[in-house]
Amino acid sequence: MEVKLDLMNKINCGDTLDLMKNIESNSVHLAITSPPYNVGKDYDSHNDLMEYDEYLNWLTKVWIETKRVLIDGGRFALNVGPTGIRDFRPLHHDLSNRLREIGMIFRAEILWYKQTMLKRTAWGSWKSPSNPHIIPSWEYVLIFSNNSMKLEGDKTKSDITRDEFLNFSDGHWNILPVTKNRKGHPAPFPEELIYRLIKYYSYEDNTILDMFGGTGTVASVAAKNNRNFIHIDISKEYCEIASNRIKKID
Ligand SMILES: C[S@@+](CC[C@H](N)C(=O)[O-])C[C@H]1O[C@@H](n2cnc3c(N)ncnc32)[C@H](O)[C@@H]1O
Repeated sequence: MEVKLDLMNKINCGDTLDLMKNIESNSVHLAITSPPYNVGKDYDSHNDLMEYDEYLNWLTKVWIETKRVLIDGGRFALNVGPTGIRDFRPLHHDLSNRLREIGMIFRAEILWYKQTMLKRTAWGSWKSPSNPHIIPSWEYVLIFSNNSMKLEGDKTKSDITRDEFLNFSDGHWNILPVTKNRKGHPAPFPEELIYRLIKYYSYEDNTILDMFGGTGTVASVAAKNNRNFIHIDISKEYCEIASNRIKKID
């Protein structure tokens, strides 16, 4: 019989499809991730420029595994950018369609307003309607539910405050991105973004998965807020950064 690895509350370094096989079905309450966007970012151990269909097919395999490990009522929060001005592909629509095709319930989009325009001069035709671009100053967090909208849980383990609930229920979230590269990672999450998702969508003692965990923001915020975490990333360098972050919490 094949022995499964225990991935819980550990930084697990390896390919996500290989490692996710070790996660029990129906055991995760909330998955939060930001996958590689396939825009040619300079990751340590990943080709971020695949053919588009190959890229979508690969991520769909990861989403099928995600659905398998989520409990009924479990949520998936997928951070993804809006339509880019290089290839004009609506990745957020394409990924949503794939997730709906495999049976996930689409329930909301949060608009993460980053208050920054990275390429402020990339407006296409300047002061002319001939070919102007919309410059993305935001990203989405798309929220899906697995099989049921309702997540059962112990009421005494709900730890969101009244003011947080009021504030986070407005889906326009103004959060500054992490500007300085966290030891070379091109796209780390800001902790505030993850804090809001974890508080809004999970109970204390729930299990939170990030299958493209990078420098461990999800793991770290989960641990600080009395949740279990499962962290997976293929890069040894990023896993080491994540391990150091987790060690500092104990
Ligand atoms: C957008 S980044 C995630 C950053 C993370 N949210 C953070 O706060 O640091 C995507 C991550 O996916 C990882 N990755 C790419 N291909 C992978 C694979 N096949 N298996 C596991 N991780 C992978 C990359 O190493 C990268 O850290």
